[in-house]
Amino acid sequence: MNVLVTGAGGQLATELIRRAPGAAEVEALDIEQLDVTSSSRVRDCLESIRPAVVFNAAAWTDVDGAEANEDEALAVNRDGAAHLADACGEQGIRMVHVSTDFVFDGTSTRPCRIDDPTSPLGAYGRTKLAGEAAVLDRLGDAGLVVRTAWLYAAHGRNFLRTMLNVMSQRDHLKVVADQRGTPTSAASLATALWDLVAAGASGIHHWTDGGETTWHEFAVCIRDTGRAEGLLDHDVTIEAISTSDWPTPATRPAYSVLDTSVTEALLGRSPRPWSEEVRDVIGELAAAAAGESGA
Ligand SMILES: NC(=O)c1ccc[n+]([C@@H]2O[C@H](COP(=O)([O-])OP(=O)(O)OC[C@H]3O[C@@H](n4cnc5c(N)ncnc54)[C@H](OP(=O)(O)O)[C@@H]3O)[C@@H](O)[C@H]2O)c1
Repeated sequence: MNVLVTGAGGQLATELIRRAPGAAEVEALDIEQLDVTSSSRVRDCLESIRPAVVFNAAAWTDVDGAEANEDEALAVNRDGAAHLADACGEQGIRMVHVSTDFVFDGTSTRPCRIDDPTSPLGAYGRTKLAGEAAVLDRLGDAGLVVRTAWLYAAHGRNFLRTMLNVMSQRDHLKVVADQRGTPTSAASLATALWDLVAAGASGIHHWTDGGETTWHEFAVCIRDTGRAEGLLDHDVTIEAISTSDWPTPATRPAYSVLDTSVTEALLGRSPRPWSEEVRDVIGELAAAAAGESGA
């Protein structure tokens, strides 16, 4: 089975390539090789590769930057998704598109379900919601949209790597403790996406790692695991602050835990607890650091 992954080099694309099943022949294209904002490039690429499935891992993911650049974010997150969906529709290709918990406004008091009303608080969420519609309107059952949250990996730009970096240089930092969600490893998401394709899933699905937490508790887990794995050689105090103490250009949902039960039923399994995935990713970083130092 030929598979195309867009956005190669990003967190999710890297893990999709790593975790591809043996039967998949994966062609992964980065922004230089395939800029999804070009409809003609998208069409030509799909015609020449002729994949059975396209995973769209290309996205504008700078949440704060989207506030001042919504048109540029729309060009990638809505129009890029639409170009891919158009070409997939014309050529009979299945498409897997990834979306975000930021399509919700954070007022829910229980995990957000697939059919709960969406109401993004910021530009990034609006552009991602428009991307969902672009895919589902065009592709029907040939389209799959998977919402996820708080993505991180041992590579790329993410909270876990930023925290380890900041903690290595300081002994005190402040982290927001009044936003609840679920950290999700790009590796576990990639495995779930491959499994969803194998299961013939379509429509909207939710996938995150198990449980829920705050950015502050996530940071504490990163510190403690980093210390245990030898990546941090000193203790760090992590002060819990509120969102109002840490203003950002984009407003983030206070509560964006995703209900993954429908997807769990389809896959016949539950996600691992988020803290176990953190341990694996920090273990990967520790092994890489030990390899570099020749230990
Ligand atoms: N990161 C999160 O916390 C999070 C949370 C929920 C949902 N998601 C969603 O999960 C998906 C994967 O996210 P990720 O964390 O893997 O993102 P990422 O690491 O930022 O990767 C996105 C990739 O897309 C590329 N890209 C940007 N514009 C493009 C274009 N016009 N054409 C082709 N490629 C382009 C980027 O290239 P450059 O680096 O060169 O710009 C980057 O390599 C996205 O749909 C994202 O919205 C992410």
